Amino acid sequence: MLLTNHFAELSAVISPSIMQGYIILMVLLVMGGTILDMIHKKSAQYFFENAKKAQKSATRSVGGGEKVAIATAVLVNEVLTSGEFSNPRRRLSHLLTMWGTIIFIVTTVIMIFAYPTTATPTPAIVPQLWHLGALMLAVGGYWFWFAIRVDVSAEGLPWFRFERADLFILSLLATSTFALIWSYMGGGVNVYFVLFILSSTVLFGGVYFSKFAHMFFKPAAAFQKRVTVADGSREGLPPDYDLTDPEVQRKFPDIPTYMGKNPPNMGLCIKAERAKHY
Ligand code: HEM
Repeated sequence: MLLTNHFAELSAVISPSIMQGYIILMVLLVMGGTILDMIHKKSAQYFFENAKKAQKSATRSVGGGEKVAIATAVLVNEVLTSGEFSNPRRRLSHLLTMWGTIIFIVTTVIMIFAYPTTATPTPAIVPQLWHLGALMLAVGGYWFWFAIRVDVSAEGLPWFRFERADLFILSLLATSTFALIWSYMGGGVNVYFVLFILSSTVLFGGVYFSKFAHMFFKPAAAFQKRVTVADGSREGLPPDYDLTDPEVQRKFPDIPTYMGKNPPNMGLCIKAERAKHY
């Protein structure tokens, strides 16, 4: 099962050009959904207006070289290693979900375009990675769904309650689950294949209604956030003061009145304990 390119076997029943056409259609749906999402939410307009506003309160300008360094840091930290999550469970679950999805999609495309029939044997590693990707996605996704997402872990809502915002995670989970069951049942055209295709069509066709497009927007937002720290505009937030610094104490002479001569660094209050009081 793990070594079989089920799409090549399927070519006896469904022409490879239909499968390739389906993939191209899904790519177009993702592009269309993302553009519609941007137009509807005016997110691109907001993003650029906000960036321009931030520039006005900048205390220094960020040069081209520094911007390249910032983009590299975003790629390494926020994009490739999900560094925005400070909760390690959430980070690990996101890493599994994200890398599982990427491996699953890339190997599906390789199998359908490079090895469309059994006449061109598929290297065993490709279907193996396809199964691994689907499994990683399922493990990270079910972990998130049952235990990590804020509705369940902090707000105390039951795992089976869902709303439109859950369309993304649920269609991801359905796609990986039915793909694995379909493969386990030996591939071919059966009810699991129909469910696999249905759920992947909802995943890629539902971009406008789901959180799918965050994977394109988040890197841009992370880049902008780092630029506002580098140029000193800090989204209008005050600097991180060191309360023991005599300069800061001169600026705010009432600090010792409230906090003593050597005020302790109490860190971010938001990190004091887990949110579980809803
Ligand atoms: C194949 C790519 C990706 C997949 C499958 C994926 C999957 C997910 C899922 C399932 C969630 C939880 C959504 C929910 O609350 O229902 C999520 C949230 C999040 N993702 Fe991703 N992600 C991907 C790429 C990225 C990238 C590239 C970034 C950042 C550069 C990113 C940053 C985030 C952040 C910050 C959140 C939490 C905030 C939020 O819910 O809006 N993701 N992702």
